[in-house]
Amino acid sequence: MARVFSGIQPSGDLHLGNLLGALVNWERMQHEHDSVFCVVDLHALTLLQDAETLRSQTIELAQLLLAVGIDPEKSILFVQSHVPQHPQLAWLMECTVSYGELSRMTAFKDKSNRDGTKFVSAGLFTYPALQAADILLYDTDFVPVGDDQRQHVEITRDIAERFNSRFGETFVVPEHFIPPAGARVMDLQRPDRKMSKSEGESPGTVFVLEDPKKIEKKFKRAVTDSESEVRYDIEAKPGVSSLLDILGAVTGEDPESLASKYEQYGPLKTDTAEAVIEMLRPIQARFAELKEDPAETARLLKVGADKAEPIASEVLARAKHNIGLLS
Ligand code: AMP
Ligand code: TRP
Repeated sequence: MARVFSGIQPSGDLHLGNLLGALVNWERMQHEHDSVFCVVDLHALTLLQDAETLRSQTIELAQLLLAVGIDPEKSILFVQSHVPQHPQLAWLMECTVSYGELSRMTAFKDKSNRDGTKFVSAGLFTYPALQAADILLYDTDFVPVGDDQRQHVEITRDIAERFNSRFGETFVVPEHFIPPAGARVMDLQRPDRKMSKSEGESPGTVFVLEDPKKIEKKFKRAVTDSESEVRYDIEAKPGVSSLLDILGAVTGEDPESLASKYEQYGPLKTDTAEAVIEMLRPIQARFAELKEDPAETARLLKVGADKAEPIASEVLARAKHNIGLLS
């Protein structure tokens, strides 16, 4: 059976982009694939985190993944720092990727240039090496991610191929799985930018745990344009197209054919808000239950790590042997 691996950082609050771009596909894929999902707490350390907040966000994110439907009986769900093979393989990856390749990563350029970023950690720069280790440790075939992670999966493939050609067949070369709809959910206020875990009020970001009334308001106020025609055209009508994309990702319908059902922006906004709220309702309810028992979630994560570690340790041993380290 093909293996799927993906990861998500426990920093900031989960939003609609994370859900539609990644998590709904994780949930779907776990039924047909051998699946491994990871809360990548070590990646979160690339930006300064408050220790207590990081701990509570790690548990909370795991509870959200469970609430979305990741089933610990079907998938391996664990926390990255519980499996020490991740940072161990990351060193081998750092020695297999070049400074030039890492310098070309757009995520690094964006994050290191962001307003107010005074301290750019070395970890932020080598981040893709750790991500490559995450993926390669599980002999992964497919990596379900949003469009913004395309480049990181691409560099993982390059690293795997280079390692294999230098030291002999060691790693499976993975492919990304980017969904046809929802791969790039845009900010409702700035449809030229992807929705992200931004700070403060964030009127353009819809959070998975947000109150339905607030979500409705955010969609009502979503930026469209001064025309009134509903048409799917990302270049000319980014705001309207982004609403159609969201509605399409939630309902499974094609955004272009959805466009033909609407004559005005108002009903499109109302229907999109409603579809999103209905999608989130059971997730929010399940999360509220899980939140009551963090000790049980912590236990499940330990069970997940115990299942992940033997797989990771076999692949790490193979890589260490092939590269010439003494066993
Ligand atoms: P992160 O929150 O950066 O750990 O991302 C977790 C997952 O959500 C990754 O697979 C991202 O590609 C995906 N993702 C993040 N933002 C968006 C977005 N605006 N649209 C679609 N997918 C997204
Ligand atoms: N870099 C990813 C993000 O920011 C998170 C991540 C870390 C990841 N390791 C991974 C995603 C391995 C897929 C596979 O979204």
